[in-house]
Amino acid sequence: MPVDPTNATLVERINRHDDLALFRVAYKAHDVPDFEPGQFATLGLPDPTPPDPAKPVRPGRGPKLIRRAYSIASPNTQKDALEFYVVKVDGGKLTPTLWDLEVGGDLFMNPKIGGHFTLDGVPDGRTLVMVGTGTGLAPFRSMYLTYKSQKRWDRFVLLDGCRVAQDLGYREEMEAFAAVDPDFVYLPTVTREPDDSGWSGPRGRVNALLEPDAFEKAVGVPLDPATCSVFLCGNPQMIDQVEADLNGRGFVTKDRKHPDGTLVFERYW
Ligand SMILES: Cc1cc2nc3c(=O)[nH]c(=O)nc-3n(C[C@H](O)[C@H](O)[C@H](O)COP(=O)(O)OP(=O)(O)OC[C@H]3O[C@@H](n4cnc5c(N)ncnc54)[C@H](O)[C@@H]3O)c2cc1C
Ligand SMILES: NC(=O)c1ccc[n+]([C@@H]2O[C@H](COP(=O)([O-])OP(=O)(O)OC[C@H]3O[C@@H](n4cnc5c(N)ncnc54)[C@H](OP(=O)(O)O)[C@@H]3O)[C@@H](O)[C@H]2O)c1
Repeated sequence: MPVDPTNATLVERINRHDDLALFRVAYKAHDVPDFEPGQFATLGLPDPTPPDPAKPVRPGRGPKLIRRAYSIASPNTQKDALEFYVVKVDGGKLTPTLWDLEVGGDLFMNPKIGGHFTLDGVPDGRTLVMVGTGTGLAPFRSMYLTYKSQKRWDRFVLLDGCRVAQDLGYREEMEAFAAVDPDFVYLPTVTREPDDSGWSGPRGRVNALLEPDAFEKAVGVPLDPATCSVFLCGNPQMIDQVEADLNGRGFVTKDRKHPDGTLVFERYW
């Protein structure tokens, strides 16, 4: 079925730095449909590459849409617009064009929201260990904001791994939640922050914070598959390495054969 490539509007944009921003996008004809926190929507913009003159455009067809998936960062109670947390990929096909879109501009946002990276099947009362690299924090914000007043977990532990401190795009908000919610633990860590920058928090990859002693020291409970469920999101190499490590420590990857698995992931590429 043909899609309307202008069915949505960029209603707000908040820059965190030149290459990192929050985009709020609204459907023109309807509210945000129901979704589960952790799911993604697909955004699309026309391909800016000039058409190949050797390939005539078929009548009635506009330029090709470049579409990419983005985890929803807003809670499912917010119905006027969806929020996305996006990094600009140099040389990427969609993000440089998205960066040029002005507030009020049109884009495509698929009305069908999808994905299985949700809390579905995770029993209440567990320690949820959410591990994001870069913009992989987005789905965890949606989960936390949606369920924070429903006692869905014993503890919600959020590991936020970025290159430098200015890439921790939701840090202030997450620190504010941690200050008032004793069940929320926020652990940002940076890998390329200059030594003399004044950053006093943890340094190194998220993997180090998942080491048994480091985790127990930071969180106060052991990282144990009997009580913890782990969600991984973002960089695929991080996911492969953490999955291998935690499989070796008794965490079972959730799949069709293991619907009660204690490790779930979403690769961004
Ligand atoms: C389910 C799902 C959810 C996603 N959610 C988000 C999100 O919330 N925020 C977001 O910024 N991206 C997200 N992505 C990635 C997004 O779909 C695009 O791949 C990304 O924006 C790059 O698109 P592009 O066309 O500019 O680059 P492309 O031309 O598609 O180039 C892709 C290359 O860019 C790099 N890359 C892609 N995504 C990222 C990223 N997030 N961080 C660092 N490097 C990356 C990789 O090297 C990849 O090979 C998600 C991907 C999936 C599959
Ligand atoms: N971040 C920026 O300021 C910036 C600026 C311009 C463009 N971009 C674009 O965005 C992309 C990178 O985005 P990003 O920095 O958000 O994502 P990223 O490269 O995935 O890095 C995010 C964090 O994940 C860590 N990481 C990488 N591999 C890992 C692994 N195997 N295990 C555990 N942690 C791992 C990184 O550590 P390491 O530092 O050790 O790799 C970093 O701390 C690039 O493609 C670039 O084009 C980013």
